[in-house]
Amino acid sequence: MTELKSYVRSLERSRSALTRADRPRTFAMAGREWDLLEDVFAPPFSATTQVAMEILGLVGDGEPRYRRDGSFIEIGSGTGIIAVTAALNGCERVVATDISTAAVENTRLNAERHRVADRVRALHGDLFSALDPDERFDTVYWHSNFVLAPESYRYETVHEAAYVDPGYQAHRRYLVEAPLRTTAGGRALLQFSDRGDLDRLHELAAACDRELTVHCRRSFAEGPDTIEHILYEITPAS
Ligand SMILES: C[S@@+](CC[C@H](N)C(=O)[O-])C[C@H]1O[C@@H](n2cnc3c(N)ncnc32)[C@H](O)[C@@H]1O
Repeated sequence: MTELKSYVRSLERSRSALTRADRPRTFAMAGREWDLLEDVFAPPFSATTQVAMEILGLVGDGEPRYRRDGSFIEIGSGTGIIAVTAALNGCERVVATDISTAAVENTRLNAERHRVADRVRALHGDLFSALDPDERFDTVYWHSNFVLAPESYRYETVHEAAYVDPGYQAHRRYLVEAPLRTTAGGRALLQFSDRGDLDRLHELAAACDRELTVHCRRSFAEGPDTIEHILYEITPAS
């Protein structure tokens, strides 16, 4: 395993992000100010959230990869910056879920801060578990915990779930469930990275009868590393 893909290194990054002396309570991104609660994935410590927003077309002049006036679900909303920006950009119904209760509270706080609490529903749950069985969305999106940890690894804190996925168990379920949650013509999207195991992701997709289509790739520097992020659309295999 390369250093870049090392789950041990990602767990160290998780611990450091919680304890760094410069961890702020608020941060500026995408032209707005945001609350950051304790125990929540911190966008200021990595370029990934900003890159995710650019790739989706939520900020900047890139092509929007979501339906602007449609419905949007973000799995793993963290601070809520992506879900809230989707609502501010015109999405009429936004749902944000996270496995971390602190992230759900943080998303609610930021929806209130930016006065879109009437359009952003923040729910605690594992992937789609908090939704009604029939709920569907024009855009289904997850900026995932793309680093592969051994299947037997048990999280020591819920914050670690922002960084690594043991055995890609959550990814497997997302590959199956995300396309089942789209409206006709909707898109199921996964924001992944070359910090993750691309071969394993493609093997899983094939085993689940899913096709992965690249919508966008973006390389950027993170400390000494160059990282590539990839936005995939997931569809049932033809
Ligand atoms: C890389 S972070 C992205 C956070 C935020 N979307 C952002 O871009 O700043 C991944 C998020 O997925 C959440 N997560 C991990 N596993 C999950 C699961 N099974 N169900 C829901 N959320 C999950 C984590 O708690 C974390 O907030």
